[in-house]
Amino acid sequence: MIMQIELSVIIPTYNEKSNISVILDRIVQTLEGKLTFEILVVDDDSPDQTWAVVKQRGQLDPRIRLLRRIGRRGLSSAVVEGFSSAQGKTMAVIDADLQHDERILPEMYAASQEANLVVGSRKVEGGSIENWSWLRRGVSNIATMLAKIFLVTPLKDPMSGFFLIRRELFTRIESEINPRGFKILLEILHRSKEKKIKEIGYTFRPRVAGVSKLSTSTIFDFLFSLLELRLGRVVSLRFLSYAAVGVTGVGVNLATLWGLHEELHLSESFSLAIAIFLSMVSNFFLNNYYTFHDYALREKALWIGFLQFLLVCSVGALINYALTQFCVSHGGNLYASDLLGISVATVWNYLVNQRVTWGRSDYL
Ligand code: GDD
Ligand code: MN
Repeated sequence: MIMQIELSVIIPTYNEKSNISVILDRIVQTLEGKLTFEILVVDDDSPDQTWAVVKQRGQLDPRIRLLRRIGRRGLSSAVVEGFSSAQGKTMAVIDADLQHDERILPEMYAASQEANLVVGSRKVEGGSIENWSWLRRGVSNIATMLAKIFLVTPLKDPMSGFFLIRRELFTRIESEINPRGFKILLEILHRSKEKKIKEIGYTFRPRVAGVSKLSTSTIFDFLFSLLELRLGRVVSLRFLSYAAVGVTGVGVNLATLWGLHEELHLSESFSLAIAIFLSMVSNFFLNNYYTFHDYALREKALWIGFLQFLLVCSVGALINYALTQFCVSHGGNLYASDLLGISVATVWNYLVNQRVTWGRSDYL
């Protein structure tokens, strides 16, 4: 007998060992007897071995499945992979950390009879946020406002990470979704232009165990995704970010040079060498953390990448030097020539670093 699964619940996890059993119990308890369901945990090979707990649970209850991804990280891509391998007629995403209220899942499912997308919302009637500091509230409100401005969405809570989608809608946009973006819901809204949407209120609870994976790089990632969704291929945001980091590098360079030479009275050439080195170090780390946030190098790869970066930039410096000399010897103004040299070197550095250092082939 073929049994159609009505709801697949996707839980993305990274180091949620102390929450995973509780959330699994609660979801099973909520859905048991009401819906046919499966629970799919997408774990990015958590160091705390969250996956081992899920595997064990799956042996006792075949409705619980584990998708363990090795060597990859990312909330959105975990969700997309969960959707892709789910069986259900509808699919929901819920965080493992007990902040989302699983008790509204049946109501969300019921609402999907009329809507293609149902969002668990903190900003409609019945929705709220427990125990948030004014700072956290402020950041969230600003992000929501930006999302509304950039993407023109009818949703009151477009930042929600708790939603349900009908399979047909997901299938329609599956191949266009860019899972690099952090905000998977925004991505779905933007690609599908879906109008049949419903929001259901719930109380967002504080996280009790484990830590949030939200970081400044995540916030940057969010802003980046918003602009990217909006501007698409018009400009290369990555290049702009690389160039902006370059400008901060000039600041580091000048400040170091001034400090060492003017203040500490070290020799000009020694101060200059240190200034150049320090600006390359700060450029490398800023680019790794921001410009290439979605391809960030870690551990051993970080140091190899750093050496590659130094090498690539040294060639860039030579290009800068040679080009400036060439222009000056042909009657060019020194500063205008240097500016041209810097621009060409920056493009060179960017293109080669992105392909070699951060190993991306899809350039621009
Ligand atoms: N597989 C996988 N890979 N899961 C991840 C990763 C990852 O790289 N990063 C985070 N997760 C999982 C966490 O284990 C958790 O179950 C869930 O995704 C949410 O992560 P949190 O770190 O708790 O995020 P948050 O609470 O700051 O953000 C949540 O609330 C926001 C609204 O304030 C998310 O639901 C956001 O999507 C939402 O916008
Ligand atoms: Mn959380």
